[in-house]
Amino acid sequence: MTTLLHIDSSAQLEERSLTRQLTKTFMDAYLGTHASARVIRRDVGQTPPPAITSDFIHAAFTPADQRENWMRERLALSDELVDEVVASDIIVLGAPMYNYGMPAALKAWVDHVARIGRTFSFDLSRGDFPIEPVLSGKTLVVLSARGEFGFAPGGIRAHLNALDPAIGACAHYWGVAQEAIHTIAIEYQEFKDDRHRRSIDDAHQNARALAMKLAANVAAVAA
Ligand SMILES: Cc1cc2nc3c(=O)[nH]c(=O)nc-3n(C[C@H](O)[C@H](O)[C@H](O)COP(=O)(O)O)c2cc1C
Repeated sequence: MTTLLHIDSSAQLEERSLTRQLTKTFMDAYLGTHASARVIRRDVGQTPPPAITSDFIHAAFTPADQRENWMRERLALSDELVDEVVASDIIVLGAPMYNYGMPAALKAWVDHVARIGRTFSFDLSRGDFPIEPVLSGKTLVVLSARGEFGFAPGGIRAHLNALDPAIGACAHYWGVAQEAIHTIAIEYQEFKDDRHRRSIDDAHQNARALAMKLAANVAAVAA
């Protein structure tokens, strides 16, 4: 059975959030094709994980069998978030652009999920690349929205895009290879013109098509 981890990180509620509407379109289309898929829901926009602190880092870098109770407590949410990633096959990530990067709530989730011994290992005997991911084989669907436009590679604001490269750089912690990242973005939100309306329509159409393709792949493998 396929498990989808559905994450939203917009601070806005669904009626005002383009990314929440887009993740809903994707989820509805996926479940319409593959109704028995399991869904794990994590809304970091509504309930943001706290920013990590020195306590968190101390606890995370203490070997599991040497942790004191307060360390286990401090890592409890992180363990839960990592368990959700471990259990998932497809991560559906609603990721609005805030100040050219990711919302702080999403960054806090990223910081909780990058865990030594759980999502990555670190070994200096590997030379200049001591970090290796623990997880593999997952698919990431990034469903984004931006107020301006031209953030895709080759676009007029590509050099300002600190969101997609940051997600790409961290995806290995979630067991996602670069070629398994699919990104669909609504643009022009701040212009509220025909280009924006076309961008919304295209993004929903592409999200629906991608969901049905990914769900059909599962059905084909299962057959
Ligand atoms: C706090 C904040 C910061 C934003 N920063 C940017 C930005 O740097 N670049 C941009 O193109 N749009 C920016 N926007 C516009 C959002 O990307 C746009 O409103 C998008 O639709 C937000 O996603 P949502 O509709 O799911 O909430 C920002 C919006 C907010 C609320």
